[in-house]
Amino acid sequence: MRPPKSKSHRENTVGPWARQKLDALESYLVAYQDVMTNQPFRTVFVDAFAGSGHYELRGSPEPDDEEVSLIEEDDVQQQREFIDGSPRRALGLVKKFSAYRFIDLDPERVKKLEALGAQFEAANFKVLQGDANSEVQKIAANFGAPDLRGVAFLDPYGAHLHWKTVADLAATKKFDVIINCPIHMAIDRLVKRSGDVPDNWAKQLDDFFGTREWYDVSFHTQEDLFSSEQRTKRNDAAKRQLDLYVQRLRSVFKNVSKPSLVRNSRGLPLYYLIWAGENGRGAPIAEHILSLGSKVSVPKRRVT
Ligand SMILES: C[S@@+](CC[C@H](N)C(=O)[O-])C[C@H]1O[C@@H](n2cnc3c(N)ncnc32)[C@H](O)[C@@H]1O
Repeated sequence: MRPPKSKSHRENTVGPWARQKLDALESYLVAYQDVMTNQPFRTVFVDAFAGSGHYELRGSPEPDDEEVSLIEEDDVQQQREFIDGSPRRALGLVKKFSAYRFIDLDPERVKKLEALGAQFEAANFKVLQGDANSEVQKIAANFGAPDLRGVAFLDPYGAHLHWKTVADLAATKKFDVIINCPIHMAIDRLVKRSGDVPDNWAKQLDDFFGTREWYDVSFHTQEDLFSSEQRTKRNDAAKRQLDLYVQRLRSVFKNVSKPSLVRNSRGLPLYYLIWAGENGRGAPIAEHILSLGSKVSVPKRRVT
């Protein structure tokens, strides 16, 4: 059993709310490179679910089926507008990273990413076609040089980011991460109201949280008159799942930002952006940028 696949996942389109995520990312990267400029570090940008680099922005969604529209299906096309995705934003920075690693599963997107290396004349640039989890875990395992520091952008559509990947990055003590935590778009939708979560969904949730605790925080169990257990999904299950994820991040990173909610055009919650890292100077900067929500604006420090 698979969750419904959005049209936007097959085509290169994003909802207008993607701007909030990408502007927040770019603002943080500008600030990070400013802080790192006069320090003796080589900096690496890892974009684990990199996408194609460029998207068409969709217009406002139709008020149709609520579940499907939560993940941006069937939007009305208005005037055509394009937006740069995370790879172009990182590659175009005036203060460049020393190295770039882009990862995507999709061969078409990988081809588009490869073309960006030449276009932006990036010195140390690699596109890896494969699963973000195994590729990032390899990068983390080889991040031993003392002068290396990195930012990893972990931006999946669904429940694809494994906890082990996040924990391995944290264990390097050298990475800041910006995570798209898709609680409303994906995670809470896999936690079925009946409590009978299919095995393959439960496995995805176990991998995402790195624990089975998602089940205990989402459901309330009571004994009925005949002493058999009745399970009810809690009304605030999504909030409890988010709290669990933040608590997990706090167990491996020194600093974790307050999650910043991204909503679709109709105000429905989609996902949270969360920053985590060791970098004490990065923490207040990330906290400030994420606190701006959709009002975030990007300093003009990029070539396109
Ligand atoms: C939300 S999009 C990325 C958007 C991009 N970060 C941006 O902001 O421009 C997610 C991407 O992850 C890719 N993807 C999905 N599952 C993956 C996996 N297990 N490993 C690597 N890439 C994956 C998809 O092909 C898609 O391009």
